[in-house]
Amino acid sequence: MSTRRDFIRVTALGAAVLPLHQTFGLGKLFENKPIVVSTWPNLKANTAAWGVLSKGGRSLDAVEQGGRVVEADPTDTSVGYGGLPDREGRVTLDACIMDDQGNCGSVAFVQGFMHPVSIARMVMEKTPHVMLVGAGAEKFALDNGFKKENLLTPQAEKTWKEWLKKSEYKPDHSIVKPNHDTIGILALDDQGKLSGACTTSGMAFKMHGRVGDSPIIGAGLYVDGDVGAATATGVGEEMIRISGSHTIVELMRQGRTPQEACEEAVKRVIKKHGEKAKDLSVAFLALSKDGVIGAYSTNNVFSYTLTTPDKTNLVIKAPSYFP
Ligand code: GLY
Repeated sequence: MSTRRDFIRVTALGAAVLPLHQTFGLGKLFENKPIVVSTWPNLKANTAAWGVLSKGGRSLDAVEQGGRVVEADPTDTSVGYGGLPDREGRVTLDACIMDDQGNCGSVAFVQGFMHPVSIARMVMEKTPHVMLVGAGAEKFALDNGFKKENLLTPQAEKTWKEWLKKSEYKPDHSIVKPNHDTIGILALDDQGKLSGACTTSGMAFKMHGRVGDSPIIGAGLYVDGDVGAATATGVGEEMIRISGSHTIVELMRQGRTPQEACEEAVKRVIKKHGEKAKDLSVAFLALSKDGVIGAYSTNNVFSYTLTTPDKTNLVIKAPSYFP
């Protein structure tokens, strides 16, 4: 369903992004870099990532630093410290990280550690595995110097206790906090190397043990240095069902623009649910190896933050399928 409002939003998005490409891209590739883009209004995350990129640092370090800032922010109720707990009042975290060479690491259902994105990176760099979960991931973290701490803030506990009074569960992040969710962060460094990271406390009041898309390589995040990168935010079950981030990168490999690829992924989600998808917040963000950005959402709540070589932080409203 395409409406005039959608068209206007697409145009507005283009107006924000295209001049960057005209100024820095298209044949002047080196000047187009570095770039960092993250889901939701995330100035702190982009600033931290930019601190790495602007000094010629690696995109892998940049996305890790960006993720860490949000993980440590107690006011962010969907990621790390301050994240809303599951139905049993436990904060359980999921995260992953991936570089341009296909190296990746992931942790899921981790409790008591502030920085799952860094544990995920350590899984990638220090183990022969990609993913560690639960008690095994926690033991690995402790063995490698991460500190165990309580991540349930008084505010998150209060919100959970309020929720317990009715215990009504609807798997949509937007019922809890419409303007933020999982952080997915993608970066292109000045060497032209892409990386991505994704970190979340998952659905508020989820079933104990539930894991979403964010730590699943190919669902919440995918990076291919020859093509591009994609990440996701929203109802993780939907991204898992369509292998969303991998789908987007493969569509880009076949010649779709990042924008077209994100739109196709959202349409695949919608095809499964029809009009009911209006109530499902699902959004994708993509960055090609040439620095072209795509973003698309089921409904009209998603924005993303872009930081570019002219040191501008832009919070840009993404176009959506449903107005
Ligand atoms: N997108 C985060 C989650 O569903 O857990």
